[in-house]
Amino acid sequence: MVHTSPEALQEAIQKVSRSLEDRMAELLSVPERSSSTVISMNKTSKQDGETSHVRGADTVLEAMRYSALSGGKRLRPFLTACSASLFGVSWEAAIETAVAIEFIHTYSLIHDDLPAMDNDDLRRGKPTLHKAYGEAAAILAGDGMLTYAFQILASPKIHSDAAVRCDLINALATASGCWGMVGGQMMDLEAENVTLSVDEIIRLQRLKTGELFAVSCEAGGILGKAPGMMRNLLRAYALDMGLAFQITDDLLDVEGTRTETGKNVNKDKIAGKATLVSVMGVERAREHSQRLIEQAISHLSVFDKKADNLRALAEFVISRKV
Ligand code: IPE
Ligand code: IPE
Ligand code: MG
Ligand code: MG
Ligand code: MG
Repeated sequence: MVHTSPEALQEAIQKVSRSLEDRMAELLSVPERSSSTVISMNKTSKQDGETSHVRGADTVLEAMRYSALSGGKRLRPFLTACSASLFGVSWEAAIETAVAIEFIHTYSLIHDDLPAMDNDDLRRGKPTLHKAYGEAAAILAGDGMLTYAFQILASPKIHSDAAVRCDLINALATASGCWGMVGGQMMDLEAENVTLSVDEIIRLQRLKTGELFAVSCEAGGILGKAPGMMRNLLRAYALDMGLAFQITDDLLDVEGTRTETGKNVNKDKIAGKATLVSVMGVERAREHSQRLIEQAISHLSVFDKKADNLRALAEFVISRKV
């Protein structure tokens, strides 16, 4: 039974998004000192009075800002904020952690859109980063976000106990790397124009999408030093929800519009991607996502009404049009 209204849920997501974006803007601002560190190149080969400038970090930061501050549903940050609230974790620590996770997510989207991967030109209703800044800047902006995420998590702002910070760093690295998102992305590319079983697709999607959802939700438990059993329940909820979320992403690719989703549609079929929608068909995939959401919510039964936003979020991810 979900008690949070859809309007109240959107308001709660907005509140997290505002704090998240303020902090991201701060972290991605160009430091004052950089204006005095502009490097002049090849002065000897230039005409008198002519210099060229290498902006370096400023260019990467600008590209990072373009992607990080271009909207997005902010579902992973919301998961972190909700789970943190279950264990009395401070808002500041939750948002700081959420920024690190959203940086990883944003980097994954930038690289996912590259010509060597999904070769997409539209993201969040705007040209993809490599279309706006070029491929090299897009690769480096992704690299910049990935490394920045761990720099943020190493800071005492996250938690005064270094063991907690290490736990979080380990969990996020595992979820993002070759045993998580990166491994899943590789499988996704290898599976183009190949027939996979339902179980194989579920494994692929768990790695590509589910693990980042799981760590986003577990993060509140890590910060709050929650018992392993509670962390596992939060992970179980987020893995089921993450799979339902990816099924919905794949359904929107078939049934959604470019205007609503802010992405090109029909791209999975064109690329020959193996998805649960392609093997089960639209109707069965939709029913499956509904069952996954019921299962996801059932994992939250030990938490009282403090978990209502997580319950409402689960319902939202499969009803969304964006
Ligand atoms: C898109 O994720 C990539 C997938 C895992 C399907 P989101 O749909 O959460 O992307 P934004 O952040 O809202 O743009
Ligand atoms: C991308 O999945 C998943 C990650 C970025 C890890 P998709 O390729 O389906 O995502 P969209 O449809 O481009 O957002
Ligand atoms: Mg992809
Ligand atoms: Mg893609
Ligand atoms: Mg997709």
